[in-house]
Amino acid sequence: MTTATREPRTAGGAVNRLAAILSARGIDPHTRVLAPEPEPATALELADARIPPRYRHALADHPRVTAWVTAITAAGRPGPGGAPGIATGPSLLIAGPTGTGKTHQAYGAIRSLLAAGVRLRWASTTAADLYAAQRPQHGTDPEQQLWRLARCPLLLLDDLGAAKQSAWTEELTYRLVNHRYNHMLPTLVTTNLPVAELRDAVGDRVASRLAEMTDRVILTGRDRRRHDAS
Ligand SMILES: Nc1ncnc2c1ncn2[C@@H]1O[C@H](COP(=O)(O)OP(=O)(O)OP(=O)(O)O)[C@@H](O)[C@H]1O
Ligand SMILES: [Mg+2]
Repeated sequence: MTTATREPRTAGGAVNRLAAILSARGIDPHTRVLAPEPEPATALELADARIPPRYRHALADHPRVTAWVTAITAAGRPGPGGAPGIATGPSLLIAGPTGTGKTHQAYGAIRSLLAAGVRLRWASTTAADLYAAQRPQHGTDPEQQLWRLARCPLLLLDDLGAAKQSAWTEELTYRLVNHRYNHMLPTLVTTNLPVAELRDAVGDRVASRLAEMTDRVILTGRDRRRHDAS
């Protein structure tokens, strides 16, 4: 009968065996393998992760949108590190028929501000999602959500006037827009209603405030989603 003397199977034994294998291959077992440092993410990269994939590379190329970006950048207050932070400033209403690129220009404007180094806390919602989130649901605080959007330094309110309107939606829109109007918080609003019809859709109090607080961009042209439109 033969008895083999074997190293006990302990963690220390495994480490010693691994050290022996590495040494046999000419690798110093005491060399620490360092994981590569992650590249620091830029504000634009972090923002891109929050932008819906369809608009993640959107460029704001409309001259009135780029003019608004320039005005907001210039109005920024210097913050920590010298980067301008968004402050009060004009808002922008982007109107035009379906598929003309309103949401594209709006996300493009947010990306341009970030690329210009503006420190930016921003939020986006469609009007329809805003109203849906305000319906009483278990475990949510609609009031807190409304104030989060109302107070955010930059808000994209997409597709205003597209959802079915009621006295309730009109009141919610009023509270949101009125807070931003009073505090002169930059807001990007898109609508596919002609400006004259927006008043009927959202009510006179909202339309009146938007008229004063926003610069206007009217997009025209074909529906860019219909590639074969002729
Ligand atoms: N300037 C542009 N360059 C390249 N692609 C664009 C441009 N503008 C819009 N698009 C593309 O065209 C499509 C429609 O654009 P977008 O969704 O912005 O339209 P919209 O005006 O917001 O439409 P809706 O009124 O239905 O919301 C999207 O696929 C978008 O990526
Ligand atoms: Mg849109």
